[in-house]
Amino acid sequence: MAEAAPARAGSVLRVPLPPSLPAYADRGVLVCFEGGEGSGKSTQSRRLGAWLEADGFDVVLTYEPGDTPVGKEVRRIVLSPETGELDDRTEALLYAADKAEHVATLVRPALERGAVVVTDRYVDSTLAYQGAGRTLDVAEVEAVARWATGDLRPHLTVVLDLEPATGLARFEGRDRIEGESLAFHQRVRQAFLVMAAADPDHYLVLDARADVDAIEAAVRAAVLPHLGQAART
Ligand SMILES: Nc1ncnc2c1ncn2[C@@H]1O[C@H](COP(=O)(O)OP(=O)(O)OP(=O)(O)O)[C@@H](O)[C@H]1O
Ligand SMILES: [Mg+2]
Repeated sequence: MAEAAPARAGSVLRVPLPPSLPAYADRGVLVCFEGGEGSGKSTQSRRLGAWLEADGFDVVLTYEPGDTPVGKEVRRIVLSPETGELDDRTEALLYAADKAEHVATLVRPALERGAVVVTDRYVDSTLAYQGAGRTLDVAEVEAVARWATGDLRPHLTVVLDLEPATGLARFEGRDRIEGESLAFHQRVRQAFLVMAAADPDHYLVLDARADVDAIEAAVRAAVLPHLGQAART
């Protein structure tokens, strides 16, 4: 029989810690879009948001990195080609800082009032890009990202799966990450697929070459069962 998780220990200074929050919010719905560059995350986030809004739901469309005042500064540093070389750990910590701020000030408050939060990228992007892409120890990157987010997890993560060359060809101009090698982007793609395969209850993998409308319909069908805990405006 599995043993119950031990109660969280206090700090070395014996200061009691606040209780941790559940990984899956019991109010509101967190939906996340993941996938490589140009796979259609922003397109599908907007479409899902519009559909939910038309149905009267309280919807928050958001993204990582950068959708808070502090996150905006972090985004500029991690994505601007002017930043040049950045130590891999520094980069991972900057992404984690963006996530901490995003979850604490935007995502959790929205979920608490029952909103459907649709985020364009989340923790899995860090695991894929800073872990598999940069080849940092994924378990270590995950520990940092989970700490940053208080281990808040999406009810549903939609992975838009695409051959990197196809996604990169969908737009012009490259930021710091987009300019990485094809091998880097291939490791990123594999990482998303591995995470999805390990937790099929919380993931939907879609072929991002499919028609935009067909992808939208598949996303709606997967989101629908979660809407019972979402509030209408
Ligand atoms: N299913 C699709 N088939 C073909 N083209 C698509 C599809 N979905 C989106 N596109 C087009 O591909 C381009 C990239 O889409 P989008 O910006 O939604 O991707 P993204 O994943 O958000 O990209 P980025 O990684 O740059 O943020 C856009 O020009 C969009 O119109
Ligand atoms: Mg986008």
